[in-house]
Amino acid sequence: MAMIVVEGVTKVFRDFIAVDGISFIVEEGSVFGFIGPNGAGKTTTLSMIATLLEPDAGEITVGGFNTIDYPQAVRSLIGYMPDHVGMYDGVRIWEYLDFFAAAYRIDGPARKRVIEDTLELTDLAGVRDKLISTLSKGMRQRLVLAKTLLHDPKVLLLDEPAAGLDPRARIELRVLLKELQKMGKTIVISSHILTELSDMCDSVGIVEGGRMVTSGSVDSILARRDPMQRLKIRVLDDAERAANTLRSIERVSEVERDNGYVTFSYSGAESGIPALLKGLLEQDVNIVSVEHASRNLEDVFMSVTRGEIR
Ligand SMILES: Nc1ncnc2c1ncn2[C@@H]1O[C@H](COP(=O)(O)OP(=O)(O)OP(=O)(O)O)[C@@H](O)[C@H]1O
Ligand SMILES: [Mg+2]
Repeated sequence: MAMIVVEGVTKVFRDFIAVDGISFIVEEGSVFGFIGPNGAGKTTTLSMIATLLEPDAGEITVGGFNTIDYPQAVRSLIGYMPDHVGMYDGVRIWEYLDFFAAAYRIDGPARKRVIEDTLELTDLAGVRDKLISTLSKGMRQRLVLAKTLLHDPKVLLLDEPAAGLDPRARIELRVLLKELQKMGKTIVISSHILTELSDMCDSVGIVEGGRMVTSGSVDSILARRDPMQRLKIRVLDDAERAANTLRSIERVSEVERDNGYVTFSYSGAESGIPALLKGLLEQDVNIVSVEHASRNLEDVFMSVTRGEIR
C-alpha cells in the first residue's frame, strides 16, 4: 500500500518556484531517500507533507488522507524532524521528553512508559538526567528523534538528520533508523548526499531546482544510469602495463589506475568476463583479485545534478 503519495506538487514563494511539479510514492514500511543539493526544495516538500505548508498545485495524501482536507489525521500519522530545532538548554533530557509527551496528551502511567521506551530505543536511557546544554550534536539529534517518536507515528519525515554528525554518530543513527524500519515505520529521509544511508533506502528520489531528476530503487537507478560492468582488479606487478593491456581490449573503456589496482568498464555481458580475465592472464598480467566496482549513488548524484545555485 502507498503510504505517501505526492502528486504534481508545486510551491511558489512570491514569483520563485521552489517546488515544481514533484511526484513520488512511498510504500508503507519502506524507506525513501530524498536527495538534492542546497535549495533543491527538499525542506519545502517535507514541510508540505507535514502539513506546515500548503501546496499551490498538486496533491499530497498520507495514509489516504489529503493534507489539505484532513491535516489533523495526517499529523497524527507523522513524526516530523525538521532540519533545525530550537532546544531549551537548561532542561534535562527526560524533562524535555516529558514536556512534549504532555503536549501530545500522553498522560498517567502511559507517559512514563512511553518516555522510558523512547529513551531505551534512542540509547539515551543512561544520560536521561543530563542537561541539554551538555549534549553533543549526535546526542541532540537522537533526542530530537526521540521527541519525534513519542506519539508512535507510523510515518517519519526526517530532514537531514545526519547533517553535522561525525562518522560514529552517523553509524549510530543508521542503526537506529534500521531499528525503526524493522518496527514497520515508513521513513522519508532527506540529505545532500545519501551514500551512507543508501543501503537502507528502498527507493530514492534525486531533486534539483524543485524538480525530480530521477527516482526509483537504488539498484534500478544505478542500472539505468550505468549499463556497463565496472570491474576492479589488483595486479601483482606492473599495474601501468596491465592498464595499457586493458586499453587495447575491445569493450573495455574508462581504464583508471590507482597504485596496484586497475578499474575499468566492460560493456559485454557478465558471461564474457572469464574470457576477458583469461586473456589478461595469458598476456602475463598477474591478477590477484577481481571485484565489481559498482558505481554508487554519489556518482549518480554528481552525474544527474548540475550544481546550479539558485
Ligand atoms: N519561505 C520562503 N520564502 C522564499 N523562498 C523560500 C522560502 N523557503 C524556501 N525558499 C526557497 O526555496 C528554495 C528551496 O528551499 P528548500 O529549503 O526547500 O531547499 P532544500 O533542498 O531543503 O535546501 P537545503 O539543502 O539547503 O536544506 C530555495 O531556493 C529557498 O531559498
Ligand atoms: Mg533543507
